[in-house]
Amino acid sequence: MKIIHSAAEMQEIARQLKIQSKIIGFVPTMGYLHKGHLSLMSRSVKDCDVTVVSIYVNPMQFGPKEDFKKYPRDIKTDLKLCRQQNVDYVFIPKDAQIYPKGYMTEVQVKGITDSLCGKFRPGHFTGVCTIVSKLFNIVKADIAYFGQKDAQQALVIKKMVKDLHMSLKIKVLPIIREPDGLAMSSRNAYLDDKQRQDAVLLSQALKKAKQLIEQKQRKTAKIIFQMKRLLSQSEFATIEYIAIVDADHLSEIKQLKAKTKVLIVLAVYMGRVRLIDNILVKVD
Ligand code: PAJ
Repeated sequence: MKIIHSAAEMQEIARQLKIQSKIIGFVPTMGYLHKGHLSLMSRSVKDCDVTVVSIYVNPMQFGPKEDFKKYPRDIKTDLKLCRQQNVDYVFIPKDAQIYPKGYMTEVQVKGITDSLCGKFRPGHFTGVCTIVSKLFNIVKADIAYFGQKDAQQALVIKKMVKDLHMSLKIKVLPIIREPDGLAMSSRNAYLDDKQRQDAVLLSQALKKAKQLIEQKQRKTAKIIFQMKRLLSQSEFATIEYIAIVDADHLSEIKQLKAKTKVLIVLAVYMGRVRLIDNILVKVD
């Protein structure tokens, strides 16, 4: 496994791989790797000739009051995990290379970034799209792997790729969870023991919503009411949003219709830790 810090070197390696007609799989991450990230790597290693993982905590996607500075970092363990997954290249760029003095360009996807996380984290998706575009250009990926955990992010990236005629495929893989149902996240490391216990309520609320839909509840307000009730069992939980939306366009749904696919999404603070989760449900 090779560790690359220079964008120019990574680009040159990718150029050589292209000449050899190698299929390049790419997994962009912010590190502090867990089984969710590893599932993306293992799929890339299986599907592609060469796998590149990037580890970069991207300052542009954090708001001024967000956790950029204290975002968990552990590069040594990350590299060990990448090695275990048989990753070929780990790209760890430096801020000065990614955003040099005088840097001026941003990539913005409109519309689907106005709601949900985009509404509460202004500028976040522009930060994500900008870094992901830059990484795609550096790594020259043929297939890039993203997690359904960040459902809105995956849709935004797909839209960007389509709108900008980027010639790579985006694959979105399922959410990996802890045994009790909590979606794996680097931010789970911030939770204290009690908050960690209560954090299971997020996935329980989503399961409850799925059950209600299976029992033919069609009014989303009633489903959301039950979800809020469940989450209110925790003294730590503050709901940022809960929404039931169209799975492709993220538009809010009031009354569920048969033969549609909906996404139930939520963002909840457990104390000061912001957690997100979602579930895809087919309405019969
Ligand atoms: P990060 O939060 O490190 O996540 C990297 C990738 O892992 C994302 O595609 C995310 O959806 C996926 N992932 C995270 N938790 C997961 C889980 N429990 N199951 C499955 N996949 C999971 O998302 C980012 O970084 C950044 O925004 C990035 C795309 C790297 C741009 O900076």
